[in-house]
Amino acid sequence: MNADLKTDYENETKASFTDCLTGLLNHGFFQLALDSEIKRSQRYERPFTLAFIDVDSFASYNRHYGPAKGDRIIKEIAGIVKNCVREVDIAARYSGDVFAIILTQCKSDEAAGILERIRESVAILAGEHTTISIGIADYPAASENKEIFVKKAEEALVKAKIKGKNRVTIFKEEKELLNDQTPRILVVDDEPKNIKLLEAFLLPFKYEILKAENGEDALSIIDRTEIDMVLLDVMMPRMDGFEVCRRIKGNDNTRMIPVIMVTALDDTEAKVKAIELGADDFVTKPPNRIELQARVKSLIKVKILNNTLTSLESVLFSLANTVEAKDEYTSGHTLRVSELSVELAKRMGMAKNDINAIKIGGIIHDVGKIGVPKDIINKPGRLDPDEFEIMKTHPYIGYKICSPLKKSLGKVLDIIYYHHEKLDGSGYPVGLKGNDIPIGAKVLAVADIYDALTSDRPYRKALSKEKALEILRQEAGEGKLEKQILDYLLEIV
Ligand SMILES: [Fe+2]
Repeated sequence: MNADLKTDYENETKASFTDCLTGLLNHGFFQLALDSEIKRSQRYERPFTLAFIDVDSFASYNRHYGPAKGDRIIKEIAGIVKNCVREVDIAARYSGDVFAIILTQCKSDEAAGILERIRESVAILAGEHTTISIGIADYPAASENKEIFVKKAEEALVKAKIKGKNRVTIFKEEKELLNDQTPRILVVDDEPKNIKLLEAFLLPFKYEILKAENGEDALSIIDRTEIDMVLLDVMMPRMDGFEVCRRIKGNDNTRMIPVIMVTALDDTEAKVKAIELGADDFVTKPPNRIELQARVKSLIKVKILNNTLTSLESVLFSLANTVEAKDEYTSGHTLRVSELSVELAKRMGMAKNDINAIKIGGIIHDVGKIGVPKDIINKPGRLDPDEFEIMKTHPYIGYKICSPLKKSLGKVLDIIYYHHEKLDGSGYPVGLKGNDIPIGAKVLAVADIYDALTSDRPYRKALSKEKALEILRQEAGEGKLEKQILDYLLEIV
């Protein structure tokens, strides 16, 4: 440990660099040590590992036995940490019951051995039933940015806790669940400067951009290459954008490619025509950067999901889109619910398969609304009891529509069927309680309600984030929603 760093710290803060209870380094000094280790690692290309150690259920231990006994446990664990780490390592008391260790010049697999010894020793030597959970991240593999790197080690610690505590977990980057290929976008415009502009707008994203200056070239590229989206100008000589769109959407092999038409401002006629021909969205000329990026991003996501599904499943997705079109107020709702549920599921450490089911469930959970009359869905006021009875059929209808795909959809069916159940049994269609409700459905329910509250509805304007969270908290307080899932939601939003 760099002695100059210690002297500098003492001179600067007029305080000690150690924690008075444990004798380990304190939080402030640890931050400096971490900065310095990161610099060293960058200069000499020497990896190191950061570990966070958290005492399991420490708050309830403290409550039960009192703070003096709690402090004794912290001191004992600090002693074990000191005994087990190597001389070159840097150990600190990071906060109340969290320790941090920089294991210099070693990668996580080697570090895990040292940390396993600490975990084992605590389980044997510290007070009865006292265990610790440990999360580790590799520098620079996890991230070169200090803040992100620290977050990744914390994420690994959370995973260790979720997986059942008393364990060591190494941070691993999760691959994109469904597709990690670079999306390919074809930009079609007879004016090269327009192509350049669109290309510049899409530059910040990892897209591969192909270009065509007329309709024939565009179709020939689509014919030869896998394309994930077409940005299509309407006004072009010879074959115009309408004709190109008609051919793309009229061909079974290409009709799933999203097409965004670029139309003149206020050209309603062109928009209507494009809809009739099957275009998925519009942007007006000159395009607004933010708007264009948002539309492209959202349609690319749908396309990537579609890529992974069989044609039958694609039909389901189209159906879900139809349902969304039926509801004037839910534009983008399913995609947002899908994304938010996936984020929740990831934080909860759910298995990859379950996360995948949640991702798809998010998109198609309301597909049963196809069987609910449009005027009930869009009623600008509270539903009367009869109308509500009809609305309550949508999870079952959705389940029935999707059940022929049981083999490939698996747990998605449960999510569709149970996404309106409540922990206290007051939900529908079955009135399941507590742990009888599948976890995927519970996660989706939280995301679904949150997104519904923060969106405009036929009977009210969108609520603020704070107000929505307050309502969710109240629901959790009444025993309707899982509190733990809500805690993760708070972290995200
Ligand atoms: Fe629903």
